[in-house]
Amino acid sequence: MQVALKIWRYDAVKGERALREYEVDAPEEATLLDCLDIVKDRLDGSLAYRKSCRMMICGSCGMRMDGAAVLACKVRMYEIAQAGQVPVISAMGNLPIVKDLVVDMQPFWGKIRAVQPWLEPGLSDPGETEHVVSQERMDVIHKESLCIMCGCCVSECNSMEADPEFLGPAALAKGMRFVGDPRDQATVERLQSYSEEHGIWDCTRCYFCNERCPKGVDPRDAIAKLGAEAVKEGIDSDMGAKHAKWFVTSAKTTGWLRETELVPKTQGIAKSLKEVTFAMGLLKHGKVPPPFPPHVAKHVGEARALYDLVHEQDRDGAAGIAQSEKALGHLEHADDGGEAAARGPYGDGSFAKPFLPGEEPTV
Ligand code: SF4
Ligand code: SF4
Ligand code: FES
Repeated sequence: MQVALKIWRYDAVKGERALREYEVDAPEEATLLDCLDIVKDRLDGSLAYRKSCRMMICGSCGMRMDGAAVLACKVRMYEIAQAGQVPVISAMGNLPIVKDLVVDMQPFWGKIRAVQPWLEPGLSDPGETEHVVSQERMDVIHKESLCIMCGCCVSECNSMEADPEFLGPAALAKGMRFVGDPRDQATVERLQSYSEEHGIWDCTRCYFCNERCPKGVDPRDAIAKLGAEAVKEGIDSDMGAKHAKWFVTSAKTTGWLRETELVPKTQGIAKSLKEVTFAMGLLKHGKVPPPFPPHVAKHVGEARALYDLVHEQDRDGAAGIAQSEKALGHLEHADDGGEAAARGPYGDGSFAKPFLPGEEPTV
């Protein structure tokens, strides 16, 4: 098949960028990486990009295709070529470009190091037996363990674009991998550190990292798990944590989001006073419901029962998010009415049963 590509070339020495077009004859099974190899071998040996495994394992070949981060060795070119498309290939975002499609990964690794990506078992003597972790507990960090450090999520992160010091999705997903590991004894210290400025509460929840991660790590979900664990441990002085807590209190007490009280509950009375002019404008246009007495939903009992259930079943914290993922996964995969629909969401041949307080983990 004939494959045409436009590639943004960059010469760091001269500081020059240029969009070049190439056309190659490639086998039908060729990936984007294969096509780049052909360009380099046959047309232009000066083209620079990273690669190693060619099978979505090493994380080296992250780059952008038509503005969205991809692993070059994962993208099949057949349908793109058949449609007559000429994709534009460029270096990943949010990292300095060294040459052509090669970025400097130093800032990426600096953030990974900052979350202390190693187990802190807190044991002076590791003993001679294994430290076995139940399947339910490992389920909580299963997705985070799949990360191959490609940087595709970081490339697309809006918060990192606004604040280059933001720890970012890859590092925070790595942090969750250790926060959720029951063998780790530094959970509180980790959560305190990740909750500081440039940490978990600075994520804008745009979900681009989930969308672009080629391995299904879902870093935004990992950040949500960190937030849930932080609140569970009482590490909630950040405005983001207060904001999240108010949502829960508000839903529990009235079944609604009590927006009028959201700002003072999140920012404190003193800071909220600065927003008075804005609030008066909203009031004038009938956008601010009177806070007292709070409007209580007719079926508020349902919201309260849900709140109680979450607590009874120990569904607060990261375990609750992992359990919800399983239930949603079941719904999604059972959609076809086939084999998955015939079996329950938990049990033999299906998802692991939720881990409840006082229960023995199910093997
Ligand atoms: S959800 Fe958060 S971490 Fe993920 S890309 Fe958006 S801002 Fe970045
Ligand atoms: S979370 Fe996904 S996109 Fe981000 S570095 Fe890991 S594998 Fe790559
Ligand atoms: S070359 Fe290893 S992930 Fe693409």
